[in-house]
Amino acid sequence: MPASNLPIRDAQRDVPGLALAIRGTKRVILGQSLALHGKDAEKAKPSRMLLRVHWDVPGCSLAGRGTKRFTFGGSLALLGNNDEKDMLTGTCQARPSLSGARRMLFRARAWHSTGTTMKSSWPTRFAENVRDYEGYPIGKTIQYLTDPEIISLAGGLPSPEVFQRSQMRAASIHALDTNIDRIMQYSPIPGEASLVNAVIGFLERDSIRIGRENIVITSGGQSALDLTGRLFLEPGDTVMVDRPTFAGAIVTFQMQRPRFIGIDIEADGSDIVGMRRQLEQLTREENLPKFIYVVPDFQNPSGITMSLAKREALLDLSYEFDVPIVEDSPYRDLRYRGETIPALYSLDQRREGGHVIGLYTFSKLFCPGMRVGFNIGPAEVVTRMTHIKEGAILNTPKWNQDMCTAFLTEWDLDEHLENCRSYYREKLDVFLRTMAEYFPPETGVTWTVPEGGLFLWVSVPAHIDTAKLFFDAIEHKVAFVPGEQFYGEKPEHNHMRINFSFVSKEDLAEAVRRLANCVRKA
Ligand SMILES: Cc1ncc(COP(=O)(O)O)c(C=O)c1O
Repeated sequence: MPASNLPIRDAQRDVPGLALAIRGTKRVILGQSLALHGKDAEKAKPSRMLLRVHWDVPGCSLAGRGTKRFTFGGSLALLGNNDEKDMLTGTCQARPSLSGARRMLFRARAWHSTGTTMKSSWPTRFAENVRDYEGYPIGKTIQYLTDPEIISLAGGLPSPEVFQRSQMRAASIHALDTNIDRIMQYSPIPGEASLVNAVIGFLERDSIRIGRENIVITSGGQSALDLTGRLFLEPGDTVMVDRPTFAGAIVTFQMQRPRFIGIDIEADGSDIVGMRRQLEQLTREENLPKFIYVVPDFQNPSGITMSLAKREALLDLSYEFDVPIVEDSPYRDLRYRGETIPALYSLDQRREGGHVIGLYTFSKLFCPGMRVGFNIGPAEVVTRMTHIKEGAILNTPKWNQDMCTAFLTEWDLDEHLENCRSYYREKLDVFLRTMAEYFPPETGVTWTVPEGGLFLWVSVPAHIDTAKLFFDAIEHKVAFVPGEQFYGEKPEHNHMRINFSFVSKEDLAEAVRRLANCVRKA
């Protein structure tokens, strides 16, 4: 049957006063339009509609792709650049955007001209909470960086120059020689006892005292965040985060569809006064946050560290409003200058609060390739996280855990950490010196001066949108992560996250020079 002869069923209606030319499952033809019209029998007639369109035939495009506002009475053109001109498959959903109007859906599908085979429309089957999710924005940023001439300050990578290669090789061989059957087998879900014990010892150095019932080994920090989000968040819950905050936390928590409440970050950490104001407001709304998420030490992305006074004040708020704190600590041991400030977890222990959950990863101190981290907290919380882990990933590979145990207990941890610190400190200093040289005050460019960690935050004049600047930067063979990716709500557009740990000192200086050229032209 030629495509133009495909039958189109009559319109149906279920919103009072509203009819659609195409409703229900339909056969439509490439090049045809879907007319959206209505009868104004009722005053509640929607004048605008929110239309979400999924079109999944390679080579086909749609005028109204994505989520669009549509004027009622308008039409949606189906365009195609497909070689198979008479075939397309897709689904449109329309929803009147006026409150009070009933939800309206329609599906339009086109078929092979034979009418016998219909391509499956996968996106319509995706769960609501991931349907619009297009992947981790930082991952997308990094995909542009394939040109080897680009100096990338984008990823959060530790430097391979501090990797303990010989220890790793020797420990791997030893583990395989002595323990191969257990390494190749399933292992305990909460984690290998040897690693759990090593972690308990590691945390004691930081005045944190926990038992085995307070810890679950995770597959890296991202998995630690995932267990936290899944345990606490439901659609509509609020979660309080800094502005900016770690993009990976936003992405992970977003899966549970919470509402983010952003708290500005100041030079010494979260704006505690603003946080109190928000907590009071949320108390009135009876929607207190399920938790407050913070990265107190050398925050990703800003490099900012929360002062002791603010840590105490944050705990005060946590107790007063009975809102727990999630303390994410990947960088705590990477301090290059200044005094170590007690972790929120240990301050809370001193006050017997039991209000803090700690998230850790071996990715930045040891190596990200192992994908090992851990969560600590009250036993009832950790037990639940362990149950969720069981359903999600079962266990973290034993071999990876054994390498982490060796890292903590056998390879001279202090020497390694000191090595990392002096190496990264030098890089940070090169970066800061070159920034001062290329961005004098009259450029209006400012940056944070972190005391540790792997990142700093550069702010450019407000008229520059760093998401656009990113593409100019690539032309100049330098890359960063646009700052807008680090906001749970109301993103700001004139910042960039800079990683200084990965590239060589020489490349760091050259990267700043390229960045300056690019910003000057913006
Ligand atoms: C604050 C923070 N939390 C968690 C993670 C995730 O850690 P991992 O790489 O181990 O998944 C990162 C990684 O950059 C991070 O910066």
